[in-house]
Amino acid sequence: MLAGNWKMNKTPSEAQSFANTLMNALAGFNSFDIYIAPVFVALDRVQEVINSSNIKLAAQNMYFEDNGAFTGEVSPKMLKELGVEAVIIGHSERRKIFGETDELINKKVKKALKEGLTPIFCIGETLEEREKGLTFCVLEKQVREGLYGISAEEVKKVVIAYEPVWAIGTGVVATPQQAQEAHEFVRKLLGQIYGEEVAQSVTILYGGSVTPENFFGLFVKRDIDGALVGGASLKESFVELAKIMSKIIC
Ligand code: PGA
Repeated sequence: MLAGNWKMNKTPSEAQSFANTLMNALAGFNSFDIYIAPVFVALDRVQEVINSSNIKLAAQNMYFEDNGAFTGEVSPKMLKELGVEAVIIGHSERRKIFGETDELINKKVKKALKEGLTPIFCIGETLEEREKGLTFCVLEKQVREGLYGISAEEVKKVVIAYEPVWAIGTGVVATPQQAQEAHEFVRKLLGQIYGEEVAQSVTILYGGSVTPENFFGLFVKRDIDGALVGGASLKESFVELAKIMSKIIC
């Protein structure tokens, strides 16, 4: 899977126009899933563009209730009506800037699954945690709490995005070894909780300063199944990433 997280960038008309560029440039890339996640207010217009293409629509967040007095929130049912198929949950910016907890994230992952949306569930350690040797400890807590109460059947539909916080938007990408080590750890943990077969079937993306220059080395690693891309998804470089991916897969 290749997923572009546009974050709080592009107005609806800019998003629509870039979606059109991507749709033309990415036609024919059918060996993996391609998602783009524009801001909420651009979802409708982007969907009109990519509707019958190979690009799928994702949202950057959602709430776990259907409707009600939750000012500023958006429900999965509302997203589904716009053609959204996947939703990014627990991104480190949501955790850090908006105070999202593992408990809240768990509710959102469960709700997404219940509604038939693919949760792109994000985890990752800060630089401080890595330097203190706490990386695996942090990842284990995030995985166990984020997936709490989710069955083996359901977890197969979850996409996990390992995004070390220190690599997000910094230009400091994890080395392929660092990323593979974390991915392997997460897959082994899934194996302990859900069994080997289930663990092998879960898609684990890497995210954090992915560019066409560093992507090859990451994607060839055994446990790296794709990427969640921020900055490089806002430009033509997203197409380059798709080209690299399709060469490795074929
Ligand atoms: P970045 O963002 O590619 O700009 O580092 C990745 C992400 O936050 O998903």
